[in-house]
Amino acid sequence: MLERIKKDLKCAYRHKVDRLNHVYGVRDTALKLGKIHGADLYQLELVSYLHDLTKYESLGFHIEWIRRYYDEAILDDFYDPLYHAYSASAIAQDTYNITDPDVLGAIEVHTVGKPNMSLLQKILFISDYIEPSRLYPSCVRVREIAFINLDQAVYEAINDSIQLYERTGGNIPRVAYEAREYYQKRTGGHACPK
Ligand SMILES: [Fe+2]
Ligand SMILES: [Fe+2]
Repeated sequence: MLERIKKDLKCAYRHKVDRLNHVYGVRDTALKLGKIHGADLYQLELVSYLHDLTKYESLGFHIEWIRRYYDEAILDDFYDPLYHAYSASAIAQDTYNITDPDVLGAIEVHTVGKPNMSLLQKILFISDYIEPSRLYPSCVRVREIAFINLDQAVYEAINDSIQLYERTGGNIPRVAYEAREYYQKRTGGHACPK
């Protein structure tokens, strides 16, 4: 299964070397974190390959696949750049017959997170945020925290992302605020020095 998806990924991203490197960066980071935090390494490799599979598809593609596999409300709750998480999960089900709710959930929430994520979901979310090609200051800071305290890293990543989008006037889905509140309560919300 992994080899088949890897081959399809290489083909889909043959003109997108940066995105392929991002996916491999997510995989390598996820496997390192998985070893430290005791997660299933096969599942981590699987969700790393699948999470951005539909990133460059058209808006129409995302809408079609979301309508086929999810409640229409997803289209209102999220914004266009985040749709790929749900269309990728739909393709994981349709093309690769993946049914594991934890695997599908990890792909679905990798963009903004959600409250009470599983270990697999938290590691994919954080790996997507801190993989080596991400160089902005928040990612570098969260990278150090992730290997010590995963929940703290999740809180910091969500909090930094919300603050950035608030400053730049970007759209923030409600679930991001809910996730921040959840992980703030869980960790005490102690922000590390910036
Ligand atoms: Fe993504
Ligand atoms: Fe990604």
